Amino acid sequence: MLDKIKKLLEEINALSATTPEEAEALRIKYLSKKGEITALMTDFRSVPAELKKEVGMRINELKNRAAERINELKAAAAIKEDTDDELDLSRTAYPLHLGSRHPLSLVKNEIVDIFSRLGFTLAEGPEVEDDWHVYSSLNFADDHPARDMQDTFFVEAHPDIILRSHTSSVQARVMETTQPPIRVICPGRVYRNEAVSARAHCFFHQIEGLYIDKNVSFQDLKQVMLIFAQELFGPETQIRLRPSFFPFTEPSAEMDVSCTICGGKGCSMCKGSGWLEILGCGMVDPAVLESNGIDSSVYSGYAFGMGIERIANLKYQVRDLRMFSENDKRFLEEFTSAY
Ligand code: PHE
Repeated sequence: MLDKIKKLLEEINALSATTPEEAEALRIKYLSKKGEITALMTDFRSVPAELKKEVGMRINELKNRAAERINELKAAAAIKEDTDDELDLSRTAYPLHLGSRHPLSLVKNEIVDIFSRLGFTLAEGPEVEDDWHVYSSLNFADDHPARDMQDTFFVEAHPDIILRSHTSSVQARVMETTQPPIRVICPGRVYRNEAVSARAHCFFHQIEGLYIDKNVSFQDLKQVMLIFAQELFGPETQIRLRPSFFPFTEPSAEMDVSCTICGGKGCSMCKGSGWLEILGCGMVDPAVLESNGIDSSVYSGYAFGMGIERIANLKYQVRDLRMFSENDKRFLEEFTSAY
């Protein structure tokens, strides 16, 4: 009897099945009412009393092992069947978890898209820059406060190699390698030595625009800015230009759009004024054209620059700037769009 059990145990351990049906057939063969293991119970009656305990234990072990083995075979065969039918073209597709674009990418793409419809092409430049492209070629005086350690990150205390603090450095790079007509839009990340808070960060993103050709006037700038604002914020949007100063533009202006929340009536977003500041712009200073190898007696141009976070804040009312760089999935998953 013990020999018979041992033989059956070996048989069970060596079983195999390729389909769940085969595994089920094995269950019937061994474990059903008329199965081989069940049949052992009939023989058990004739086992001498002193051996009954041991034989009983062995039969139980065999039964458990057989059930376990056959279940294993069934599970493995079921998985195999599941993967084997990859070619079932009628099967419902697995749900696809698509990611969403980062809100800053959405806004950047939308802005780039608007300007590409106006004939601007993309240009990019390095984030680790030299003083010439970030400041000197753009008419910044040697003692301009932006060059200060408070504002600028220096690379390994090298006075000439810095992290760009605005995308205007890309203007400089485009001008030195291209003769007009130039019409470029330059998105990118910029760095400033600021304490990180809800309202300021040590890095953020800007988009720069530059247009240089014969007879480019302030009127062209104003018209393009109006089209841009209405495309981005809606056809009712108004703009206003306020005199300002940048070393590389003359005249310079700060541009406001009518408040995107209250439409100009005055609310907490625009602090009651009805206007929101969104960008800096102006006519490229002739001195900048000259230091970048462009004849200022023939050509004129305009430039503008804006912070992408600022625009994203207006569009999505993100209260804390740090949200943009923390990669919190709950925040990122809120943004879906065609861009
Ligand atoms: N570079 C300026 C800034 O960072 C923005 C600007 C760009 C202003 C181009 C005028 C023209 O604030």
